[in-house]
Amino acid sequence: MTVLKRAAMVGLGGQATSDHLPGLAQCHLAELAGVCDVDAGRVAAAAAAHRVPGFTDVEQLLEQARPDFVIIAVPHRAGHHVVAACAEAGVHVMKEKPFATNPQEAAELAALCEKAGIELMVTVQRRFHPVYPAALSLLEQIGAPYLVEGRYTFHCPDPAAGWRGRVKLAGGGCLADMGYHLIDLLLWYLGLPDRVLATVSAAAAPGAEYDAEDTALVHLAYDSGLYGSLLVSRSAGPKTEHLAITGPHGTLTIERGIVRLTDPAGQIVESLVRNPAWPCPPAVLIDRFCRVLDGTALNPSGPTEHLPHAAFLAAAYASATTNRPADPKEFLA
Ligand SMILES: NC(=O)c1ccc[n+]([C@@H]2O[C@H](COP(=O)([O-])OP(=O)(O)OC[C@H]3O[C@@H](n4cnc5c(N)ncnc54)[C@H](O)[C@@H]3O)[C@@H](O)[C@H]2O)c1
Repeated sequence: MTVLKRAAMVGLGGQATSDHLPGLAQCHLAELAGVCDVDAGRVAAAAAAHRVPGFTDVEQLLEQARPDFVIIAVPHRAGHHVVAACAEAGVHVMKEKPFATNPQEAAELAALCEKAGIELMVTVQRRFHPVYPAALSLLEQIGAPYLVEGRYTFHCPDPAAGWRGRVKLAGGGCLADMGYHLIDLLLWYLGLPDRVLATVSAAAAPGAEYDAEDTALVHLAYDSGLYGSLLVSRSAGPKTEHLAITGPHGTLTIERGIVRLTDPAGQIVESLVRNPAWPCPPAVLIDRFCRVLDGTALNPSGPTEHLPHAAFLAAAYASATTNRPADPKEFLA
C-alpha cells in the first residue's frame, strides 16, 4: 500500500486555489495535512473546506502539522522566510516560481537547502510538459542558432493592483513574474546569454501608483553570434506565448503545448501537438515531486538550476537602470 506524503500549503491565494489545492485533491502520492496564510480569513475558509488544521504562522504549521513537504505560493519577497523556515525544520519544498528575487537570495537559499539536505523543486510547469523537452531534440535539426525571438503577453486590467505592482513586494515586475517561464525556456534551450540590454516600463495605467514594470523588452546576445529579444507584457494583449529559434536549416517555434519545425522558407517540416495543449496538471507535478522525494525520479528544477535565472533577471534590471548592456554571468553569486 502506498503511504501518502503529508503536504502543507503555504499561501492560499490565486495559485493555491486554482492549481495546488485541486492538485493535492487529485494526485496519487500526497494528501493535504495543513494550510497556512498570513490572512486569517483565508486560513479559516481553507481549513474548513479541506478539513485540515490551519495556521497563520509557518513555524507553527511545520511543528504541529508535521508535513513531509510544503508547497509555497506567496508573494515573491515573502518566499525567503518560508523556504528558510522549511529548511530549518528539514521539510522539503515545492516552490512557486521564482526561486528567489535576486542572486544573493538564490545563493543563500540554495546553500540552506543543501545544508539541510532538503529537496526543493521550482514549479516551472513547462519543464514537466512532454512537448517542451521534445523541442530540445528538434533543436539539433536547425543547425547553429543565430536568432531567438520570445514573446509572452497578456492583458491584466489593473497592472498596478496588489503586491504585483510593487517592486518591494514582488522583487520585479512582469519579467520576474510571468517572464520567468520564458527565461526558463531560453536558459534551458540556449543557456545564459553573454549580454543583455533591457528596457522596462510601468506606463500602461497612467495615474496609477506602481513601480513594478508591466512591460519589458530584453535584447540578448551570445558570444557565438546568436542574438535576439524577449518581449514580456502583462498589460499589452492579446495573450500570446511563443519562442522561436532560427538556424541555417530552419526555425523551431514553441507555443503553448505545440512545437513546430519549419524550413528556412517557413514551410512546416513537422509539428508535435499535445491535446489538450494545456494544462500540465498540477497533480502531475505534485506526484513527480513525491517521486523525487522517494528517489525514483530526478528533480529537473532544483535550486542550482535556478541560479542562472536570478542572474539573468539581475542583469536585465541592472541594464534597465544604467541603460547599458550587462553580462548575466557577472551576476552569478
Ligand atoms: N506557475 C505559474 O504559472 C504561476 C501562476 C500564478 C502565480 N504563480 C506564483 O504563485 C505565487 C503566488 O501567486 P498568487 O497569484 O497565488 O498570489 P496571491 O496574491 O493570489 O496569493 C498569495 C497569498 O500569499 C499570502 N501570503 C502573503 N505573505 C505570506 C506569508 N509570509 N506567509 C504565508 N502566506 C502569505 C497572501 O495572504 C495570499 O493569500 C507567486 O510566486 C507567483 O509567481 C505561479
